[in-house]
Amino acid sequence: MNIFDNIESIQNIIYIFSSILFISGIKMLGKEDTAVKGNFLSALAMFIAVSVTFINVINPLIVLIGIAIGATIGSLIALKVKMTSIPEMVALFNGFGGLATFFIAWSEFNSIPTNTFQYVLIMITSYIGGITFSGSIIAYGKLSERLKVEKSSIITKLFTTLFYISIIYLFYSIVVAKIFIPSFDFFTILLILTLLGGIGFVIPIGGGDMPVVISLLNSFSGIAAAFAGLMLLNNVLIVAGSLVGASGLILTIIMAKAMNRSIGNILFVGYASTSSGSKSEETGEVKPINVSDAYLILENASSVIVIPGYGMAVAQAQHVVRELGELLEENGTEVRYGIHPVAGRMPGHMNVLLAEANVPYDVLVEPDDINPSMDSIDVAIVIGANDVVNPSATEEPGSPIYGMPIIEAHNARTVFVLKRSMSSGFAGVQNPLFFRENTRMLFGDAKESIGGLVTEFKE
Ligand code: TAP
Repeated sequence: MNIFDNIESIQNIIYIFSSILFISGIKMLGKEDTAVKGNFLSALAMFIAVSVTFINVINPLIVLIGIAIGATIGSLIALKVKMTSIPEMVALFNGFGGLATFFIAWSEFNSIPTNTFQYVLIMITSYIGGITFSGSIIAYGKLSERLKVEKSSIITKLFTTLFYISIIYLFYSIVVAKIFIPSFDFFTILLILTLLGGIGFVIPIGGGDMPVVISLLNSFSGIAAAFAGLMLLNNVLIVAGSLVGASGLILTIIMAKAMNRSIGNILFVGYASTSSGSKSEETGEVKPINVSDAYLILENASSVIVIPGYGMAVAQAQHVVRELGELLEENGTEVRYGIHPVAGRMPGHMNVLLAEANVPYDVLVEPDDINPSMDSIDVAIVIGANDVVNPSATEEPGSPIYGMPIIEAHNARTVFVLKRSMSSGFAGVQNPLFFRENTRMLFGDAKESIGGLVTEFKE
């Protein structure tokens, strides 16, 4: 056994150690009190894995320069990004993960694969990596509203066709091209078709479904990395890639379930619109309320459910919301927070904001936990949420959001809706909750309205 065999064995043992750290770190992310430590452990695991890889890199300087450039650009983007634009940033970062594996597969192809297994891995890795890259760029464009393409447009149809052609061509590359050794540069064609196919994969999908697609692309980037790990015989890449692939897939399924859609329906049929009108007619008058009157009702409430949504993120109202919750509790009111899985604009959006404001995890409840007892709640305070409390989703079969599970705020004794105007939410549909007998509209910026209530309580 020569010295390099020894180094490889030690490298592999350290990779296994890093993998154990990854898995433990991810498990710790599930609980509020261990989450920070879990994050640190996973980052440490990645640091160890990357450092160990350096041992037998032929030209470490080039790798270091690459890391420095990537880290600088990534940190600058992450520091500058607004909380409301994080989903777009995640989409972009997923895409670069896919691009990295796309390039790895490309370079492996150029160094001539020695056996059929390796050859097949190269084809699959380049395909998934390429689809992830170009698909993520389109997802970024759609989420940031820089790209607007109609599902029925000729461009969409063209790219969708290219997506299906790319799948057929992938099979051709794996089966036929390997056996008959074609005379044209079939691999270059595969690379081009893959990139065009990624565009075709995402372009027909509606803006409202984009979070699910981003989560799926995130899963793809992990799967591509796992295949790259198999290709390079790198254990840590296989483990880390599989973790990303599996967790992304689980998240995709959870989100699709929260919107009451199947993944197949999201990808190939449905088109959750961001602009379609609703059939809901405005029924009756809205009843505005001011801060002083809202305070009088809250002062006498024995139970309150706070239902935050995207507007709380826009207003950055989470800190005053926590303050109001504490003041209500001091006044003897039971306070809980109803968290809808797709409230806001990214998975866990409300959880992150409330955790930032130090709202304890044990007072957060999911729709299934709170809906059955909603009629015993004195006041539901809806803070910048709209679609996730829209009763049309359960009562109006023609509504574009029909079937999406909601938090049934309308069943509480009194509902306060805090928003600036009568405008609709992300799905673009009217909300009959605003016209209900038991609803009072507290118009204004959520931070200012809640701030006003806090002042009333303090006085
Ligand atoms: P939305 O339905 O988007 O409604 C947000 C409401 O907040 C708006 O009606 C808006 O009304 C109000 N608002 C905005 N700024 C405000 C401010 N400064 N102060 C007070 N109110 C403010 O939000 P939601 O109920 O959280 O539902 C989320 C929607 O986004 C769902 O349709 C979901 O499918 C979709 N979506 C979710 C995700 C994920 S993963 N969470 C990602 C993308 C899309 P005014 O303009 O009148 O104030």
